[in-house]
Amino acid sequence: MSGVRAAARRLIPAALLNWYRHRRTELEETRNAARSHGEVFDDIYRNYRWGGRGRAAFFSGHGSNDEAADPYVRCVRDFIGAHGIDSVCDLGCGDFRVGAEIASAVGRYIGIDVVPGLVDWLNANHAQPGKVMFRCADMAADPLPAANLYLIRQVLQHLSNDAIARVVANLPPAGWLIVTEHQPDDARLISPNRDKRSGSTIRLQKGSGVYLERPPFSLRGFDGMILEVVGENHAGKPEGFIRSFLFRLGGPDGF
Ligand SMILES: C[S@@+](CC[C@H](N)C(=O)[O-])C[C@H]1O[C@@H](n2cnc3c(N)ncnc32)[C@H](O)[C@@H]1O
Repeated sequence: MSGVRAAARRLIPAALLNWYRHRRTELEETRNAARSHGEVFDDIYRNYRWGGRGRAAFFSGHGSNDEAADPYVRCVRDFIGAHGIDSVCDLGCGDFRVGAEIASAVGRYIGIDVVPGLVDWLNANHAQPGKVMFRCADMAADPLPAANLYLIRQVLQHLSNDAIARVVANLPPAGWLIVTEHQPDDARLISPNRDKRSGSTIRLQKGSGVYLERPPFSLRGFDGMILEVVGENHAGKPEGFIRSFLFRLGGPDGF
């Protein structure tokens, strides 16, 4: 957090800050109602709505920092080793800080993201011919490449329920899927899968989160939670859990 923002936090009453945040979110999400996913997330990166201004060309948020990402990377790398995975498709790959640690453990890595400028930057800076590739696509609408393992990490939490339902309908018919979502502590969960407009915020402040195996999404092939890490709220305080869930696409539940 910059010194100016930290000082502002100390001087401005918490209630006023919360009102300002709420109002800013409302305005952003009202504007987003008429935008495509590409436009919504391009706006987030251009305006550094997930932080990182002055530090990186593209910044996918603090959730991609080492302390949050390390246990996830270890978990996915272990899964790749245990299941003989040779191709990974990372849906909503973002700035590739997390993806890079996974790409090095697998024969072929394809990162998909909906922001054209980000994908151009990834291809210019991180592609390795035949091994690491990036493609611009909307995972809710466009054909997705074949892979043994699909990853969706902290993406769905930013999407509306309508968009998530379209992602579910667009998932490939076979392969493993690991979905990672920031969810509230069970004691603070008011209702799962509460709707929101697509944008930079998530459902945590509304006492909700995305639970893909539950209605209205009810994705089949659920095989349980494989990782749980304490999450942080927008003020950097511990709040909720970042949980990873395993699915076998096209499979029955609890196979
Ligand atoms: C919070 S970032 C997470 C990045 C990465 N998965 C990680 O954990 O570091 C969410 C990313 O999902 C991308 N995204 C959002 N909606 C998408 C969609 N419909 N299709 C493809 N990518 C999408 C955004 O552009 C953004 O880069």
